[in-house]
Amino acid sequence: MAIQWFPGHMHLTRKAIEERIKEIDVVIELLDARLPGSSANPMLAQLTAGKPALKVLNKQDLADPARTALWLEHFNAMPGTRALGLDASMTAPAKVLVKACFDLAPNRGTMVKPMRVLICGIPNVGKSTLINTLKGKRATLTGDEAGVTKLEQRIVLQDGFYLFDTPGVLWPRIIVAKTSYNLAASGAIGRNAFDEEEVALEMLDYLCQHYAPLLEARYKITGVAQQTDEQILEAIGRKRGALLPGGKINLQKAADLAIHDFRSAVMGRMTLETPEEFAQWLAHGQKLDAERQVKKDAIELDRAIRFKKVPRPEAPE
Ligand code: G4P
Repeated sequence: MAIQWFPGHMHLTRKAIEERIKEIDVVIELLDARLPGSSANPMLAQLTAGKPALKVLNKQDLADPARTALWLEHFNAMPGTRALGLDASMTAPAKVLVKACFDLAPNRGTMVKPMRVLICGIPNVGKSTLINTLKGKRATLTGDEAGVTKLEQRIVLQDGFYLFDTPGVLWPRIIVAKTSYNLAASGAIGRNAFDEEEVALEMLDYLCQHYAPLLEARYKITGVAQQTDEQILEAIGRKRGALLPGGKINLQKAADLAIHDFRSAVMGRMTLETPEEFAQWLAHGQKLDAERQVKKDAIELDRAIRFKKVPRPEAPE
């Protein structure tokens, strides 16, 4: 799916992270618990490679708890990585975050050697909500200090514990097709940048394979496993009164309703990917991307030969 968005502050944020990362002790990446693989920013992985990492699966109240457990196990098995689930209903998230950071960097946290933590995440993952809770009474916020750029704010969580916030950004090119759909379904991508019908169909295709009883109960339809995603979308439109004059189904409206229902978890708590599935999608995306690169290189070489910028390679004997 072609998603059109302007990655906004991406370049500036990238630069700010590059400059800050040298003195960071732990990187907290806020992920969406409903799509923990797709909401992980590969650009961030590249920029923060080798740093102790805390993966926070946020919005766990909306996600399938069994799958959240799978993802936590998956991340906790990675070297230098801890993972925990969080949601906006937790009254003291600072406590668990601070503890997890000390587990990852036990020798930090004094006035001489303060704990310096960078927090990152894609748009709409819940970072402002969390930061606002963290700021609460205890924490103070400082953005106007030497060494703290306008693109980040520094929050003092406790003495000797600094949290540097960065703007939520996506990355410029998504190579895993499923990732674009899942990001769009979750609300990470603005609604004008994708085709709602396409996203809803892809989402329903997945949900009817993995959460058929929840779909059937919500829309009072039966046998979703035997129906195509188009038929399910039509049934949703019919049941929810998304009709055009003449009684035709308004598929755009039906798609909108289905996506909204997923986002608010009224169908139940659902997760759009498992670690195993995501690994397969990633491998497939990387293979396609490598093939695309080979084709692109061949076209560029051909062009360079035609314009006599490089000599024609000798034919093999
Ligand atoms: P951001 O800074 O990362 O962009 O995200 P922000 O905190 O603004 O949160 C985005 C939306 O997600 C908000 O909903 C917020 O209330 C909701 N949210 C944040 N954390 C949680 C959580 O743990 N659980 C649930 N269920 N929701 C959470 P919103 O204001 O309604 O915005 P929108 O979703 O309509 O865009």
